[in-house]
Amino acid sequence: MTQRKYPTDLRSHRWLGVADLRSFGHRSRLRQFGYDTQDWAGKPVIGIVNTWSDINACHGHLRERAQDVKRGVWEAGGFPIELPAMSLAEPFVKPSTMLYRNFLAMETEELLRSHPIDGAVLLGGCDKTTPALIMGAISMGIPTIYVPAGPQLRGNWRGEYLGAGSDAWKYWDEKRAGNISEEEWGEVEGGVSRSFGTCQVMGTAATMMAIAEAIGLSLPGASSIPAVDSSHPRMCGNSGRRIVDMVWEDLTPAKILSAAAFDNAIKVHMAMGGSTNAIIHVVAMARRAGIPLDMMRFDELAREVPVIANVRPSGKYLMEDFYYAGGLRAMMAEIKQMLDLSCLTVTGQTLGENIADAKVHLPDVIHSLGNPVSGEGATVVLKGNIAPNGCVMKPSAAPKHLLKHRGKVIAFENYDHMAREVDRDDLDVTPDHILVLKNAGPKGGPGMPEWGMLPIPKKLLKQGIRDMVRISDARMSGTSYGACILHVAPEAYVGGPFAFVQTGDEIEIDVDARRIHLCVTDEELARRRAAWTPPAPHYLRGYGAMFSQHIGQADEGCDFDFLESGAKVPEPEIH
Ligand code: FES
Repeated sequence: MTQRKYPTDLRSHRWLGVADLRSFGHRSRLRQFGYDTQDWAGKPVIGIVNTWSDINACHGHLRERAQDVKRGVWEAGGFPIELPAMSLAEPFVKPSTMLYRNFLAMETEELLRSHPIDGAVLLGGCDKTTPALIMGAISMGIPTIYVPAGPQLRGNWRGEYLGAGSDAWKYWDEKRAGNISEEEWGEVEGGVSRSFGTCQVMGTAATMMAIAEAIGLSLPGASSIPAVDSSHPRMCGNSGRRIVDMVWEDLTPAKILSAAAFDNAIKVHMAMGGSTNAIIHVVAMARRAGIPLDMMRFDELAREVPVIANVRPSGKYLMEDFYYAGGLRAMMAEIKQMLDLSCLTVTGQTLGENIADAKVHLPDVIHSLGNPVSGEGATVVLKGNIAPNGCVMKPSAAPKHLLKHRGKVIAFENYDHMAREVDRDDLDVTPDHILVLKNAGPKGGPGMPEWGMLPIPKKLLKQGIRDMVRISDARMSGTSYGACILHVAPEAYVGGPFAFVQTGDEIEIDVDARRIHLCVTDEELARRRAAWTPPAPHYLRGYGAMFSQHIGQADEGCDFDFLESGAKVPEPEIH
């Protein structure tokens, strides 16, 4: 990069560098910390947005990692300031972290805007955190590096490797079927998550961290490093060093993000067998960058790029193995003929330069294009009369015989209805039935919870059945698997045709043809629509009311209408 800023060009200069009473106040407050003028004068101020918290084990190491970032910032001649932000701990935040993704995005943007910050380092990794931080930083528009929290170590139970989420669902079904004891279940609970870091399967966290690297916002290789590996604090220090130069170079997200960069990210998502959640987040991130990405682009690219990462839930291994196999750089090198290698990244170099010497070390973990793990795309988009704006599926994590199927519907009006009914001994259900869950979308959930992997009815579990077709307007955890069709848009709660599916109807799905069809006549659908009344709102005040008023549908990325790209927000007045 050739463009260099002068100290008087820095945003922070307006707070710290001028000779007036306001600047006096700002400087005196820095001195209150024990800093002296030479600590900040003429230096880029780097905001380290940290999503550490005492209830988020995925980010449990980020308090220390912020110190490593600061070390790098100091060494490179910057002035680091840590800014705590909301921590979206996937297992704890209710009703759903998705309700708060846009909240964290707004917080990130406004933290950066309202403080004297010249460049940002974003620390996070647990599911919604990555898109939230990046969406906020894109909207703010200052130079930014994203530091992924990294996956936790492999889980372990009696010598068997466990993956968070995926194996919890698996053993929960075994427990419900009476195949494992309370004591064994307790051992699984103690062994599934053994270190700080994100879920160690190719769930939403691993997917989104890799996508952040693929679009050019992380240092090369950063997303694959296990949270507790000593490479991780080294990567943090390097990120701190690099962001200072990025400020001088004025290397903003707008110069890095392009339609080609997002295509690279989608191709990486497909090759990894990434989480279905990514489709929502990537659409939202692209739209923040002013790139009108349509989710059908996922479907187009799914037809081109097979799954080559042999990682659960689509494959056999875990993210720790993926790292030993060479990590994301190696996987991108394996599909490099499909990528646009000229895309710029935070290094100031191109993606092609970043992966030039990358190699796969364990070919059973990262397969070649000639020997893919699955020819089915990781995420495909189906359309039809109950999902005119689309719905998504992960065929690579579903049994092949369910990819073309016609079955009778058992419809649940909402989660509570499903929870009451699904395990009843007298439920009239066969493996060919299709379970439908309505009112679990962005407004209906509310917050589009991860209820899309509906439980297999206990009656079928006892017969040895472990999968069946399930359709909802909910999301599904990236660690989940099965013949689950998700994100039906428009959702039932707003009167989308999905609201009119009833028990006893038949639905036909054909994944190859990308088709989903409710087998009732248009006249009957119109009759049901006329009889439908909108449900009562979930919230009458507070953040929830604002969320319900402004949230977009799944196919639009679920951003707030007033946060998508548009007129630039003015810099704050300083007086
Ligand atoms: Fe945080 Fe899975 S719970 S990444």
